[in-house]
Amino acid sequence: MRIVRTVADVRAAVADARSRGEIVGLVPTMGAFHEGHLSLIRQARAESGLVVVSLFVNPTQFGANEDLSAYPRDEERDAALARDAGVDILFAPAVGEVYPDGFATTIHISGITEVLCGAVRGPHHFDGVATVVAKLFAIVAPDAAYFGQKDAQQIVVVRRLVRDLDIPVRIVACPIVREADGLAMSSRNVYLDAEARAQATALNRALSAAEAAVAAGRTDAASVLAAAHAELAASGIVPEYLELRSPDDLRPVDVVARPALLAVAARVGRARLIDNRILEA
Ligand code: PAF
Repeated sequence: MRIVRTVADVRAAVADARSRGEIVGLVPTMGAFHEGHLSLIRQARAESGLVVVSLFVNPTQFGANEDLSAYPRDEERDAALARDAGVDILFAPAVGEVYPDGFATTIHISGITEVLCGAVRGPHHFDGVATVVAKLFAIVAPDAAYFGQKDAQQIVVVRRLVRDLDIPVRIVACPIVREADGLAMSSRNVYLDAEARAQATALNRALSAAEAAVAAGRTDAASVLAAAHAELAASGIVPEYLELRSPDDLRPVDVVARPALLAVAARVGRARLIDNRILEA
């Protein structure tokens, strides 16, 4: 595995692989790897000749009061995990390489970025995500890019980005990876103390309670959300949002008549956690 810092070097490595006819897979990350990241890398490895992982804590997707400076960073550990998982190129640029002096472009996707996490974190969040992902696609020009389903709204945003800008990349959504007790893996789980860690398991239980309501025929949004709210309340969690939306365009869903995205975000201890489940009719 090579650690590459510049756009020119990653492009040269990709061009070299392409000249050998290899398929290029990209896994965009902000580091602090856990099993969720490694599952994306394994899928990219299984489907690509060259696997590029980007490791870049993207400042433009953090708000002024968010955890940019505290965000967990350990490049040495991430590089060792990436190497063991069979990554070919770890693209770990400095901020100035991605956003050189005079950088002035922002991609804004309207209609799907103002709701859910966009409503809580502000519109800058998905502007930052869309802009950096577009840059990574322009730099690496991958055949496929791998994202975790835990960030369900991010996947909707990235799919719209590539559709609207005709970017020729296949977007692969990989299943959420959970701890044994159901907590979705997240780099931010390191912020949880023992008490908050136990409390956080209520998110997955809330999604399961909603799923059980649908399975029992209570498919209207009010019943589905009530089942999930009850589980959160039992653990003292007041969600930032708990909403039922279309997994394609994030429109609100009134009745689960076709697959619907149940998405939740909550502050638990020092962490802001998100989770979701696709509820099947
Ligand atoms: O999901 C993430 O880690 C980030 O939002 C991404 C896609 C790497 C963009 O910075």
